[in-house]
Amino acid sequence: MLKKVCTDFKPEYPSKKLMNHPHLSLSVLNASASAAAAIPANAQANATTHSTTPQPPLVEQYSTIRNFSEWLCQPLQIEDYGIQSMPDVSPPKWHLAHITWFFETFLLVPFSPGYTCFHPQFGYLFNSYYEAVGQRHPRPQRGLLSRPTVEEVYRYRAFVDEAMRSLLTSPLTPEIESLVVLGLHHEQQHQELLLMDIKHGFSINPLRPAYRSDLPEVEGAIAPQEHWLDYPGGLFEIGEAHRQQITNFSQFSFDNEQPQHRVYVEDYGLAARLVTNAEYLEFIEAGGYQKAEHWLSEGWATVQREEWRSPLYWEQIEGQWWNMTLGGMRPVRPDEPVCHVSYYEAEAFAHWAGKRLPTEAEWEIAAAQVPIQGNFVEQGYLHPTPARAVTRPDQIFGDVWEWTQSAYLPYPGFRTAPGAVGEYNGKFMSNQMVLRGGACVTAQNHMRASYRNFFPPSARWQFSGIRLATAL
Ligand SMILES: [Fe+2]
Repeated sequence: MLKKVCTDFKPEYPSKKLMNHPHLSLSVLNASASAAAAIPANAQANATTHSTTPQPPLVEQYSTIRNFSEWLCQPLQIEDYGIQSMPDVSPPKWHLAHITWFFETFLLVPFSPGYTCFHPQFGYLFNSYYEAVGQRHPRPQRGLLSRPTVEEVYRYRAFVDEAMRSLLTSPLTPEIESLVVLGLHHEQQHQELLLMDIKHGFSINPLRPAYRSDLPEVEGAIAPQEHWLDYPGGLFEIGEAHRQQITNFSQFSFDNEQPQHRVYVEDYGLAARLVTNAEYLEFIEAGGYQKAEHWLSEGWATVQREEWRSPLYWEQIEGQWWNMTLGGMRPVRPDEPVCHVSYYEAEAFAHWAGKRLPTEAEWEIAAAQVPIQGNFVEQGYLHPTPARAVTRPDQIFGDVWEWTQSAYLPYPGFRTAPGAVGEYNGKFMSNQMVLRGGACVTAQNHMRASYRNFFPPSARWQFSGIRLATAL
């Protein structure tokens, strides 16, 4: 139970133009470049998922994941930390503080006797959406906070980390362990958000800066031809068994993946790889964005209103398509998976192609037969890479989150956790669609076949792409 919170503060205050591309001449690095070598070794140490092997002590896992958040911010300049390029995006400084607030609020305040909050007003500033722990600073105004400074936020992190290490080296109850494990997976989610939000923030800058100009690239890879894999229908179990307190990091699942339950699916086919940029370009060049017949009504209205003509981050320069990446501007490579498309675009593309998107059950049944390997954040590309093989579903994990045709809804028997952390997932179960499989900015040991990500159908700043399905 939460005993007290640090929220006693009541505030009193209530078209892109291309000018210059410093990175257009970015030299192409060979795919064999050791991208992973750039990642801190301790961030890769636990890259196993649902492992039953002994795990490092929780205090070590805590340090590894907390350090990785700060490592991701190392390429930033001080001016980059405060940028909020749209209401959905949060400044890097806010992310760093919010994930720290999570541990302070849900672990240190209730369970660390004598703990005093670093700052009495940080609960107001860095609470994201938890109604049960008090009022919040308006989300669209996070970019207006020049204070606390970046330096103060890093001191906040160090202060909380010291108290957390003290807590984690004392005897722990299952309740504490499970909240720490939740906090670590929460921090991993924000690591992905950090990269998504940095990319968006840099994309609106006419200089199109590179987050890192040393990212490796896959050069000259050819995606395999379109190939289909058949799956027999029947009765299957999907999801994870309901557990109130998960004390093992590698055995973790969010409440929205629970409980395990039966689903019936008809025979179906699944594309062996993701839709490529070349295939998506065919859709664009066939007038896909100009023909209402391919679009859901809301999607068509969005295309008109937002004047979409291509995926987010694409721009045409002297007849050539370029896209903004975390490595700066690069040519759109035909064999890479298409990325940064909305649900509406994914659905319209599938309609144009005479196919459909998979349901989340169909996707999970296929994914459960595949090892959790792929192009994750540990590979260091921070960009989707071409498919390799078609003898089994490729790119299921990593590269891009795959839109499904499934609405984000509670599974039969879904229960939220008691207390404020019960607000984590359940209250967002309306007007959003499920995406599966993780992306090139997701940590490998954060992923599993049952993982349910979700975004509104118009969102496209996440690393989202398309895998087609069909009836047999
Ligand atoms: Fe959060």
